[in-house]
Amino acid sequence: MRTTRVSFIIITLITVVLFTSCLDVFKTKSNIEFIHPNLHIGHIVKKKSKGVGHVKEVSLIDSISEILAKKGTLIYEKKCVSCHKLTDQRIVGPGWAGITNNRRPEWIMNMIINTDEMLDYDEEAIIQLEDCLTRMPPQDLTIEEARSVLEFMRVNDLKQVHRKDGAIKY
Ligand code: HEC
Repeated sequence: MRTTRVSFIIITLITVVLFTSCLDVFKTKSNIEFIHPNLHIGHIVKKKSKGVGHVKEVSLIDSISEILAKKGTLIYEKKCVSCHKLTDQRIVGPGWAGITNNRRPEWIMNMIINTDEMLDYDEEAIIQLEDCLTRMPPQDLTIEEARSVLEFMRVNDLKQVHRKDGAIKY
């Protein structure tokens, strides 16, 4: 009789210990998630979107192509300047300062050459449309022209915020 009581107490104790240690595990895990859904102790897990369209992969070398950037400048001055400033100030569309740190190169190029589909289906573009209210009209640029605008944006980011390509550097 005595032995049964003792073993009952021991079993109860073990159960309680196991149960609370399980709770602890849950607590630690949910604490990490609570800090930020994309952060796991300093690492960003979720990658930024590449957008919707033909541009699947853009590999950038660190140096700038002056020739491409020059072409991009001319396109900007002719077709984009009425809606986009080079600073962070929004006019019709958002200012471009820091854009290559916030958006992947593929996303930027898809936005330029596949504007309508991006505004219909890409989550980040839709959020921006809700913010800006005006819909960016399709610009009718070739993929090479879009690439030169991207090069111009990289140069502009170095001037404006002293950092470029931040969206792919993690
Ligand atoms: C008539 C105004 C207008 C013109 C012209 C225009 N855009 Fe836009 N652009 C916008 C608006 C507005 C947005 C924000 C998304 C939306 O609301 O459609 C935008 C967004 C963008 C974005 C995303 C910006 C970000 O911070 O995420 C890029 C890239 C872009 N435009 C590139 C261009 C390029 C390149 C040209 C010129 C070839 C151009 N745009 C011409 C209005 C314009």
